[in-house]
Amino acid sequence: MKLLVCGGAGFIGSTFARLRVRDHGDAVTVLDKLTYAGREENLQDLADAPGFRFLRGGIEDAAAVAGALEEGGAEAIVNFAAETHVDRSIAEPDAFVTTHALGTYVLLEAARERGLRYVQVSTDEVYGSIEEGTFTEQSPLRPSSPYSATKAGADLLVQSYFHTYGLATVICRGSNSYGPNQYPEKLIPLMILNATHGDALPVYGDGMQVRNWIHCSDFADAIGCVLERGVAGEVYNAGGPDEQANLDVVRRIVRLTGAEESQIEHVADRPGHDRRYSLSSERVRALGWQPAVRFEEGIERTVAWYRDNAWWWQPIRSGEYRSYYERQYGRSLR
Ligand code: NAD
Ligand code: TYD
Repeated sequence: MKLLVCGGAGFIGSTFARLRVRDHGDAVTVLDKLTYAGREENLQDLADAPGFRFLRGGIEDAAAVAGALEEGGAEAIVNFAAETHVDRSIAEPDAFVTTHALGTYVLLEAARERGLRYVQVSTDEVYGSIEEGTFTEQSPLRPSSPYSATKAGADLLVQSYFHTYGLATVICRGSNSYGPNQYPEKLIPLMILNATHGDALPVYGDGMQVRNWIHCSDFADAIGCVLERGVAGEVYNAGGPDEQANLDVVRRIVRLTGAEESQIEHVADRPGHDRRYSLSSERVRALGWQPAVRFEEGIERTVAWYRDNAWWWQPIRSGEYRSYYERQYGRSLR
């Protein structure tokens, strides 16, 4: 297939681009704005692959989107482009509204003009928090943060293009993802790098919030499945095989890195913090998908990847991320 992958220089988008080029022989054009979270380094091994091209541009820029679609001759758009960190959405929501609302609208219009298939990558956070049981695709949308509310808004706009214009849209909602190349503002890479540098490990509140972890390769695989076989107009949840309380994740990272439990520090809770996420994925499983990586194995591999790839994270940890960290945590990194 010929694909336009928006946000393909980020964590999951680059995993997806690699999967499609290597295992499916797709011609992939990546359009990415290269925000603080987007990095061409994430795609460097694909630079010479046949049919692969990287273009820098925002999804809210209609001319950039039209240019990317013409250059790559895409048959489908897969949209990963997003602002993705809840804490940043609480501190500075502006870019979340622009990228999720306006950006998604521009992509949908471009797909409608050309009759392209459209895949929206979304999140379990649009359903809000669930104390017991598990969310299905029928669960109501009750987002809690500016991040999840703008993602939910984008999902609703996508569905309106199916209902109103008959555009062939599908939405794939994933649970918390982890693996190589994840920007270290997120729980798992933050804790791995802090643990190995002797920094404090800042656990929000009591640390008993539960997340449903999915390895990024499994989420990318589910998105590919939905792209190829999903029914137009439908939503597909892709939840990982394991749920874990944050404190258990942090303790496991302490053990795997040889750090000290005394580095764990309970800090002020995130405002409006969702207590638990849990997704049932029966519908995407019926398309033939199943997760391959259990958390125990995936977290070991992820810790090893950060240990062996200092070239990837060193420029981040010595750059803008340091001042973000000071603003967010009120202390400096070592
Ligand atoms: P990420 O922050 O690593 O990457 C986001 C990418 O989007 C970056 O490369 C960035 O430069 C690009 N981008 C941002 N704004 C853009 C714009 N206006 N135009 C073009 N490019 C832009 O995020 P990620 O973790 O890879 O998440 C990808 C998608 O998956 C997002 O839509 C997110 O909501 C969804 N998702 C993420 C998770 C998770 O745990 N990380 C879980 C479920 C769903
Ligand atoms: P995060 O990786 O930000 O993902 P999300 O908010 O999308 O679930 O956070 C995962 C969980 O870890 C969430 O419950 C918040 C918690 N957390 C901490 O306790 N400390 C931290 O420093 C961070 C970044 C997250």
